[in-house]
Amino acid sequence: MTNNNTTFADAVLVLQNACPGLTVSTQPNVLESHGRDATRFRNPAPTAIVFPDSAQQVQAMVRAAADAGVPLVPSGGRTGLSGGAVAAQGEVVVSFDRMRKVLDFNAVDRTVTVEPGVVTAAVQELAIQNGLYYPVSFAAEGSSQIGGNVATNAGGIRVLKYGLTRDRVTGLKVVTGRGDLLDCNRGLIKNASGYDLRHLFIASEGTLGLIVEITLKLINPPLPSRVLMLGIESVDALMNVFGSLRTALELTAFEFFSDRALAHVRRAQNLPQPFETSCPFYAITEFDCAGEAEEQKAMACLEACTDRGWVQDGVISQNDRQIEELWRYREGISESISHFPPYKNDLSVTVSRVPEFLRRMNLLMNDICPNFEVVWYGHIGDGNLHMNILKPADMNLREFEAKSHEISAQSYALTEELGGSISAEHGIGLLKQPWLKRARSEAEIQLMHGIKNLFDPAGILNPGKVLQDTNRMEKSTA
Ligand code: MLT
Ligand code: ZN
Repeated sequence: MTNNNTTFADAVLVLQNACPGLTVSTQPNVLESHGRDATRFRNPAPTAIVFPDSAQQVQAMVRAAADAGVPLVPSGGRTGLSGGAVAAQGEVVVSFDRMRKVLDFNAVDRTVTVEPGVVTAAVQELAIQNGLYYPVSFAAEGSSQIGGNVATNAGGIRVLKYGLTRDRVTGLKVVTGRGDLLDCNRGLIKNASGYDLRHLFIASEGTLGLIVEITLKLINPPLPSRVLMLGIESVDALMNVFGSLRTALELTAFEFFSDRALAHVRRAQNLPQPFETSCPFYAITEFDCAGEAEEQKAMACLEACTDRGWVQDGVISQNDRQIEELWRYREGISESISHFPPYKNDLSVTVSRVPEFLRRMNLLMNDICPNFEVVWYGHIGDGNLHMNILKPADMNLREFEAKSHEISAQSYALTEELGGSISAEHGIGLLKQPWLKRARSEAEIQLMHGIKNLFDPAGILNPGKVLQDTNRMEKSTA
C-alpha cells in the first residue's frame, strides 16, 4: 500500500513516532464508520483512523507520511456523496473530530475562525448568537464539518442569493502534501499579491493539502422570509415561474422536485399531500419579505403565473413553523431514497439551458433505462440538478453500479455537449473520477496533475480522488 514497502502496521508506527500522543483507533467499528462517507458503492478498508488535535500534529504527521509513503484520507462529517472520504485501499484516515474549536470571533471584521471539525450548524448558530448570519445551508448541515464543506465547496439551497462556501472563505491554513503549513489570504478582503492559493484548496477534496483552520466571513442577518410551494405542470412552466418571481422578488432559494420525489419523502416522513392537486413538478421558493408590500407583490405574481397556466396549485407559509414544514418536503428527499441506494448524478448546466437539458435527459433515460426509477430534484435556480437512479430491489449492488456506469457514458456525454458539469457540488471523489474528462479538457487535467504533483509530490493525499492515482497507474502499467 505504500511507496517503500511500508507495511500496514508500520504505517501506524510511523505516524505515532512522528506525533507522540496521537490518538489512533483500529477498532473494527471505528474503521467501518470512519472509513467511508455516505456512499455505499465501496467497502471501507482503512488501516487505521487517526485523530490529530492540532495543526502541529497534522503537520508532523503529513511530513512523516510523505517520507514513508503512507496514504492519508482526510475525513470530516462523512456526509459526502461521491466517495471522497472513502478509504478502500488500506489508507490511514485522518479524522478531524478532535479539531472542533472555535478559535476566534471578530465583530469588526465579522469573521469567525474555526478548526476544520466544527460542524456547519454550529457556525450558523454562532453567527446568530452574534447578530450575524452564515448563509451556507443544506440538509446535512447538522453533521457535516466546515473542513469538508471547504474541501468540496459545498453549495446547498441558498446559493442563488448568497453563493457557495468558496464565497465565505477569507482565510485558510493548510498543510500541503510536502508538510508546509500555508496561511492563505489571512482573512483579508483585498489582497492582490499574486496567485490566490486559497482557491486551489477549496474544492480540491483533500488532494493538495489538509485544511487545519478556516476563517469565514459572516453577513447581516436576512430579512424575514416567506416560502412558497407550488405545483407546476412542465419544465418550461417551472422556468417561466422562476423568471417571473425572480423579477418581482428577492429570491433566496428556488428549488424543484418531481412527483416521484414527493412520493418518497411523503412516505418516509409521513407528510401530508401539500395541496389538493397532484402535479408532475413542484417548486419550493423562499424570498425576503420585509412587509406587506413584498407579500402583495408575491401574490400578484403568483396570480399572473396561475392565469397563464404555469402554476396549478400552491401554498404560502404564514409563520416560521410553516417555513420549516414546507422545507421538509425538499430537504427530506435525499434521506428518503438513501436506502435503495441511488446512483447519484449531481449535474449542472447554465440556467438558460435547464429546459433543454431536462427534456433531453428525460428522453435519454426513457430510452436507455426505462425500467429504472429516476428521481429528480435540486437547485434548479442555479442550474444544479440531482438525477438519482434507484437500485431495483432484485439487482445486486455490483450489477447496478455497472449498469449505472453504462448510463453515465451517455448521460455525461449529453451533459458535456450542453456545456455542463458532472459534479456541481458533491465533488468528483472516487465514484466520478473515471468521468472527469467529461467535465474538463485534457489540457486542464494535465495541469491539474502538475498542481497535484507540486503540492503533494509523494502522492499521499487522498490518492485516486479527483485525479487518477498516477503512482498506481505507473505500477499497473509497469
Ligand atoms: C440535496 O440537494 O438534497 C443534496 O445535495 C443531497 C442530494 O443530492 O441527495
Ligand atoms: Zn444538493
